[in-house]
Amino acid sequence: MLRLHYNLEKVSMGLVAAIIAAASIGGIVEIAPLFTIDETVAVPKDLRPLTPLELAGREIYIREGCYACHSQMVRSLADEIDRYGPYSQAGESAYDHPMLWGSKRTGPDLARLGGKYSDAWHVAHLKNPRAVVPASIMPAYPWLEEPLDTELLPDSLATLARLGVPYDDAMIARAETDALAQSRPDGDGADGFLERYGERPAIRSFDGDPSRLTEMDALVAYLQSLGTQTNAPYEVLAEGGQ
Ligand code: HEC
Repeated sequence: MLRLHYNLEKVSMGLVAAIIAAASIGGIVEIAPLFTIDETVAVPKDLRPLTPLELAGREIYIREGCYACHSQMVRSLADEIDRYGPYSQAGESAYDHPMLWGSKRTGPDLARLGGKYSDAWHVAHLKNPRAVVPASIMPAYPWLEEPLDTELLPDSLATLARLGVPYDDAMIARAETDALAQSRPDGDGADGFLERYGERPAIRSFDGDPSRLTEMDALVAYLQSLGTQTNAPYEVLAEGGQ
């Protein structure tokens, strides 16, 4: 074997061909499973897309680089399930473009975060993590008090719709007003919002101030939605699947 390698190294074109062959095998092993992804990854029937406000929050999450320290994928290991909740299934992220599974955890995994803390806790934590977790090394994000810019939301929804996320024309057209409506339970838009997104997404002022729509509203709405878009992982766990 060593001899073969030794000889191959002396024939440059042969070496190039061998490298290409070896790399192609690696490539095929990675790419081939994607050909059958529609059959192998089941999209949970109850999976709901993010609302425009939550989607705006997701974009802020990406902008601020939160994914660099936080994964959104619970591995199927007993200690992870004990700590975070049911392990993540591929279908849960079917509407996530790009997916934010991540692999580096400087902070905890956030896949099952929704409902774990109150909105007020998140607001205090994001403004200054040390205010609620004294030993925290997470950076502070005081600028999230800025008003939320919703102008690009219709385009974001339209792009995701092209990628297969079930946003219809009305959802795209009303994206900006729906973002506002989700943060104002008593506002005029709440009925239309309910009609389009149903009762599952929470309607409330996430930053605690209903008179303003801020980036904080969007990010907290997104954080509270994590792990609540489908019940599928909880059902697997209830059936005893590990
Ligand atoms: C430099 C790494 C780092 C970055 C960047 C970072 N975090 Fe954190 N995060 C941490 C650490 C460490 C903790 C654990 C200590 C704490 O709770 O503050 C944490 C905790 C959290 C928690 C509490 C999780 C739980 O289950 O207790 C949330 C929520 C959170 N971060 C959200 C965010 C968001 C949103 C962003 C982006 C705006 C962000 N983090 C950016 C490191 C980071």
